[in-house]
Amino acid sequence: MALEFTVTERTDRMSEADRAKVLADPGFGNYFTDHMVRIEWDSEAGWHDASVAAYGPFQLDPAAAVLHYAQEIFEGMKAYHHADGSVWTFRPEANAARFARSATRLALPTLPEEDFVQSLREIVAIDRTWVPEPEEGGESSLYLRPFMFASEAFLGVRPAKKVTYSVIASPAGAYFGGGGVQPINLWISTDYARAGDGGTGGAKCGGNYASSLAGQLEGIAAGCDQAVFLDSSTHTYIEELGGMNLFLVYKDGRIVTPELTGSILEGVTRSSILELAKELGLSPEERRIPIQEWKDAADSGELAEVFACGTAAVITPVGELRWDGGSCDHRRDGHVDEVALKIRSTLLDIQYGRVEDTHGWLTQL
Ligand code: COI
Repeated sequence: MALEFTVTERTDRMSEADRAKVLADPGFGNYFTDHMVRIEWDSEAGWHDASVAAYGPFQLDPAAAVLHYAQEIFEGMKAYHHADGSVWTFRPEANAARFARSATRLALPTLPEEDFVQSLREIVAIDRTWVPEPEEGGESSLYLRPFMFASEAFLGVRPAKKVTYSVIASPAGAYFGGGGVQPINLWISTDYARAGDGGTGGAKCGGNYASSLAGQLEGIAAGCDQAVFLDSSTHTYIEELGGMNLFLVYKDGRIVTPELTGSILEGVTRSSILELAKELGLSPEERRIPIQEWKDAADSGELAEVFACGTAAVITPVGELRWDGGSCDHRRDGHVDEVALKIRSTLLDIQYGRVEDTHGWLTQL
């Protein structure tokens, strides 16, 4: 039976004027709305105590299992304000299904899809004034972050018998900031892998992001924005960027992304792009891509574009690829990221309700 949510507290943490200032330039992940959702689980009662309360810190026992063994998962989604004032989200059933897969991999309980979607409705209903108004050509939205963690105080290594689910929300502009759609440069991480065979790479758990940070730091030291991780056993094939999937676009119309090997996250944006690309007359391929193929195709001129994608990143063109001792750049004089920008505007038009949602991807919140 579906959970009943109780609003236990209502608050306005910010004046209307301060909120307007935040919404005008939110950046990414900097500000949080007035409320949060919380649902508790224990191995005897199952899911219970679904509440909406003021945003604020958790009271966590220092022995809470998540702090020691990283038993934690999360999702990233967005709420979009349409021109008629209604608020929608994109493919929430896909996020609910992935959240359930991640939960199973991390030995956490699964939250039914209807409770997952209802938890999004609850936070958006109470914090509706935090959903940025649609702007011409912009990508502001309310980023929704559902997450679940082991809250039981116990130091033995076994699945926790007490778990907390929560949703927080954060007004969001472009992930990389900088105004407009700026290309990012990538660093090939050869010393660090993000995930390995049989590991948790296919799950959206905090540990994968923690393991990407050392590679990302290396990249930043080399003047790049993000690191691209390779498969951990042969260091040959492209996997993903840690927080984003990757596409290569060839001049002959092929648009290629690494196939899902179990160590790559199945991005909702990634799978939507695979469908949209077909409709735009491109030839999508999911296969293993040797990193050498990128270098060779950039040098030969066959590679037209590269872009990263994700809920937070939307679609972000990639410029230079750098590695220890070298670099390549597929861009030539007069380069335009035509395919990336076309898919990006097609996707944003659907998400903001500017075109008919022929795929049935939108759910009203
Ligand atoms: C998202 O795209 O929603 C993510 O969770 C990735 C992270 C880089 C913010």
